[in-house]
Formats: sequence, C-alpha cells, structure tokens
Amino acid sequence: MTWNEEQNSKDKEIQEHLIAQGNLPKHIAVIMDGNGRWALARQFARISGHKEGIESVRDIVKASSQLGIKYLTLYAFSIENWNRPLNEVGGLMKLLEHYLRQELDELHKNNVRLFTIGKVSSLPKVVKKLLHEAMERTANNTGLTLTLALSYSGRWDIVRAVQIISLDVRRGKISPEDINDELFSSYLQTRDLPDPDILIRSSGEMRLSNFLLWEIAYGEIFISQKLWPEFRRDELYEALYNYTSRERRFGRTSSQLASGETPDRKDSYFKRVVDALKNS
Ligand code: FPP
Repeated sequence: MTWNEEQNSKDKEIQEHLIAQGNLPKHIAVIMDGNGRWALARQFARISGHKEGIESVRDIVKASSQLGIKYLTLYAFSIENWNRPLNEVGGLMKLLEHYLRQELDELHKNNVRLFTIGKVSSLPKVVKKLLHEAMERTANNTGLTLTLALSYSGRWDIVRAVQIISLDVRRGKISPEDINDELFSSYLQTRDLPDPDILIRSSGEMRLSNFLLWEIAYGEIFISQKLWPEFRRDELYEALYNYTSRERRFGRTSSQLASGETPDRKDSYFKRVVDALKNS
C-alpha cells in the first residue's frame, strides 16, 4: 500500500483544508531539536531520543509527501555534531544506516527522491555506500525530494563555494564581475533546491545553528515548543497553517504585492477543525 492509499479519512480531510489555503510552501527545512531533552526527561539514554526522533522523521516525510510538498530538508547531523561523545556519534551513524536500509523500498515506492548535502566524505563507509545507492535508485522519482543534511554546516558550504569560485576565477572560467547572488547559489550544494520557504525548528530554541545560512535569507521561521520526538504531523499542520497566514513581502511593501490582501489568521480555525476531527 502506498502512503496515499493507507491515509485515514480524518487526516485526509485536514490535509485538504490545508491544501485549500492555496499557498503551501514548496520547500520546508527542519531543524530537528530536542531529542536529548526528550530522553533525559524520561531518564533514558540520549540515543533513545534519537530513535524516537526517527519516528517523527517517518511521520513528517509521509505527511509532506501526502500533502504534495516538493522539497523537505532535514538537518540530521551537523559538522559540529562530530564533537559529541563518541558513543552518541556512533549511535547516530548506526541509526542512519538502519534508517537507510529499512526505509529505502518504502521511499522509492512512494516516489520520494533522496538527496544529501554536507561533507559526505567524513561519514562512515557503509553510510556513504547506502546513501549513494539510495540516491541512485530514487534519482528519477518525481514526488517529494527528501534531502538529508549530514555532516553539514551552512558556513562550511559557503566557504567551499568561495574556494571553488576563486579557482574558477584563477582558471579564467569566470571573472569577478560575474559573481552575483545567482552565480553564488549555483556553487552551493543546494544549487538544485529552491530556497526554503519555511524553516521549522522544534524544542523552542530560536537559533539557525549554522543551517542553510545563505538559503534562508527570505524564509519564514516557525518555532515549535514540541521536542522533536513529539513533533508529529499535527505540529507540521500547525506550522503550515501559520505559514499560509503570513504575508511574504521579500523586502517590498504590502501594497506592492500583487495579492494586495493579507490572509486572515487561520490558526484558531484550524485548531478547531483538528480538535473536532480528532474527537469525533
Ligand atoms: C538534535 O537533538 C538532533 C540531532 C543532533 C540529530 C537528529 C537525528 C535524528 C532525528 C535521527 C536520525 C535522522 C535521520 C534522518 C535518520 P539534540 O540531541 O541536540 O537534543 P537536545 O538539544 O535536547 O540535547
């Protein structure tokens, strides 16, 4: 059964309400934060928080795909995360390996294209191999593009781009005058992804933590108070309803915008619909 076939009617109804708002984001980026605190609160080892976090990954990937979102980018492991205790890093790599092994068939069956950004060369051999196979196998899928940011940091990618641009200038391939936003973006690892429309961060923290620093320039930010292991599709729906109610001006004034109208805030209406459906 595909994800669309197995969806229950209440959930479908909620998604239809959301889709009817008309301006769902094309690209959602997520900082999955709070796994450690979730585990600590239950006196579990931190890795249990990451394990439960994978359940949230599954649900958010599925819901995004069902909603017809085109791009979902998850911050799964930052370059800075290599500094965590060895057993946590090892545990996370094992979970990643497990996820790729277990999920690939399902992702493929549901037309998901897997992609990755980051310093992949520093990942364990087995993870690199699995990632490579998964990307190759799903390369022609046309549904959701699921990008895992692994051993990634925004500054790292920017510095890397500057190095390659400098080399291309030295080789005479481009001249310094050619460098503009568009050209710069084309040197980043995210070159094939549109800029994120919304960045969601769980666990109440209000930081970018070195994620997609260049790409997030005009992105809307939504902070959820839920810890990542508790962040499931209802929280995603809330973030998306909030997003659809915002006016994105990209530096212009309201009156310059073609739509001319600020949509009403739909959060409370949405909450009522979800609650009614849940309790019915
Ligand atoms: C941040 O929580 C989360 C991470 C560093 C890792 C996120 C990884 C997963 C959800 C699992 C693997 C992902 C995939 C895609 C297979 P934290 O540990 O910093 O939490 P804390 O701030 O409460 O300590």
